Amino acid sequence: MTTLLPPSTIGAEVGVFAPHQLDELRDFYLREGFAILRGLWDEPELAALEASCTRLQEQLLAGELDERHGTTTLVDDEDGGRTQEFANYVVDVTPLDAGLRAAVLHPTITAAVQRWIGPHWLREESGFGVVYQDARPGRESSYTRIGWHADWQSAPHLDIWPSVAFTLHFDATSPDNGFLRVVPGSHRWATPAPFENVNGAVVPDGSVPVAGYSSEPAPFPMPLRFEKVRGEVAAYAERGDLLFHDAYLWHSAARATADGAIRRHLRGGFYSGAPLHEAPGEHFVKNAAR
Ligand SMILES: [Fe+2]
Repeated sequence: MTTLLPPSTIGAEVGVFAPHQLDELRDFYLREGFAILRGLWDEPELAALEASCTRLQEQLLAGELDERHGTTTLVDDEDGGRTQEFANYVVDVTPLDAGLRAAVLHPTITAAVQRWIGPHWLREESGFGVVYQDARPGRESSYTRIGWHADWQSAPHLDIWPSVAFTLHFDATSPDNGFLRVVPGSHRWATPAPFENVNGAVVPDGSVPVAGYSSEPAPFPMPLRFEKVRGEVAAYAERGDLLFHDAYLWHSAARATADGAIRRHLRGGFYSGAPLHEAPGEHFVKNAAR
């Protein structure tokens, strides 16, 4: 049957670009505050990166890594009350693995970031560095979901913004295993520092009151937890996708709904200003709730 209707975007993926579409990716990223780069690594390369991460996770559990790389937590076993160790995070992985470091410093990535925010540095050996995250709904002690925040709110007193966060997905995301929720364009609002938050965290002295790419106030307050936000969309990723988001973008992560679902990724950030040299985690406010 023929139709006179204009082409539909239904079924099209929004904000997803190939390595030969870096101009389009940049335009989308600057306009919306996030974008996905798909196809930077082939499957054997991805498998090698994934293996590096899981090896570090095993080494952490075996006590073979310095404790600063881990938040090894004791969680209740589902069927008995006995406990077992599990590591949802391996912190600051790039000094531990040259292959992972080379991957996140891929020339395509650093050239793109240079165009977006200018001179920048990869966060390593300060804050949490580049982190391997393994989110599982059955292991809720450490990481299952995170409430609304903008990354800059974790350190509104530091002169390291703007910044670009990246997430390399080893597992495709879905409602089954959890996914990123974003508010497109919210990086352009002047968002307040979290003077109110569910953690009761103290906003550090010297913090700026608001930040964003304009002086336009946010049209409504950022929710404290996981509430629906007008205009939010899901930023689903496929295996191997590199998802970028701006540090001023409002985002949250939805918890998995399927028992046993796994969501693993490597995430970190490129920052502007002078590199930091503080101890891991020092000076940073924990964002939102889990
Ligand atoms: Fe975040």
